[in-house]
Amino acid sequence: MLRSWAYYASAADDGWTAQQSKDVWSQVRFRPRVLRNVDGPLDLRTRIVGNESRLPFMISPAAMGKLAHSDGELCLVEGAGRVGIVYAPSNHCSVAHHDLAAAARPSQTLFFQLYVHRERWRSEKQLADANAMGFKAVIITVDVAVPGNRELDLRTGLDDNALTLGNEGAELGQKGTLAVATTAATIDASVTFDDIAWVKKASGGLPVLVKGIQCVEDALAAVAAGADGLVLSNHGGRQVNTATTPLEILLELRHHAPHLLSSTDKLTIIVDGGVRRGTDIVKALCLGAHAVSLARPFMYSLVYGPDGVEKVARVLEDEVVRAMKLLGVTSVGELGPQFVNTSRLDRL
Ligand code: FNR
Repeated sequence: MLRSWAYYASAADDGWTAQQSKDVWSQVRFRPRVLRNVDGPLDLRTRIVGNESRLPFMISPAAMGKLAHSDGELCLVEGAGRVGIVYAPSNHCSVAHHDLAAAARPSQTLFFQLYVHRERWRSEKQLADANAMGFKAVIITVDVAVPGNRELDLRTGLDDNALTLGNEGAELGQKGTLAVATTAATIDASVTFDDIAWVKKASGGLPVLVKGIQCVEDALAAVAAGADGLVLSNHGGRQVNTATTPLEILLELRHHAPHLLSSTDKLTIIVDGGVRRGTDIVKALCLGAHAVSLARPFMYSLVYGPDGVEKVARVLEDEVVRAMKLLGVTSVGELGPQFVNTSRLDRL
């Protein structure tokens, strides 16, 4: 179990970016409004590339669910289904995608996360299959040209060969078992912005979110290349250490390309990384994100099965509701920059 925890908790080098991505949220201070009628239920709905979500957060892709629970990602599908949030299983999940799709409720929304495979035909097949299985969007993760330096894995002696993948392993006739290092080596480092159109076509026209956008230049390039959504993410601090935090990436977009944040219908902006509290979620929404996404809190909850996943989501929902009432709003649409003070981050 220590090794499983280490794989989930691990971050690049000494973990500065992973830690800072959590800590930085407290640098944004709320400006609560009082004497507003906040009695009654709140409207927490948001839209993520055209799909309605009951809550303004989703579950990020994270590999190897069976490290924590024998049913692996099936627990995440069930937990997400119970609370009505979007889940994007990892391309390197440990349960086959068709089993995850089959387990989903009819009304449930799953996104397909893609690492472009060096053998492109494999990705094309996966994308076509994802469409046929009912996945509603593709998240193409673009920040893993090479794997980050995960020293915690090394220190705890994570045994790569003990890790089980649901898809590639079976496909390659390896009885479902494939080393992480081998898997990472299948990721194509020659991918460019031009490939966004290829991904969209291969998926039969599903909306495409580009995950791993870390500066305004790449945000604009991804949109120009046809992205329907951007996931502002440093991969949970697991790739290049001392990379910018997701909150600061959002602020950079606000300053230099505010038009990207203005319309949910045209472009979805998701902030991913270091989100641990409902107050973090509400701050991201105030600053123009349409939703946030979390990985580790849900991966840690997996040891308790679907109940654990549901519990994490319910705690976050309660915290969002409480924060919104204390700010004086009753719907996500009312949140805006007037409710936050970001001056402590202006000098960054
Ligand atoms: C990840 N992440 C990730 N991202 C991705 O696109 N595909 C993947 O297979 C994985 N695998 C993965 C495994 C583990 C154990 C972790 C912790 C993370 C990154 C993930 O989607 C997300 O970007 C960050 O983890 C978000 O940060 P928090 O919420 O974990 O702080």
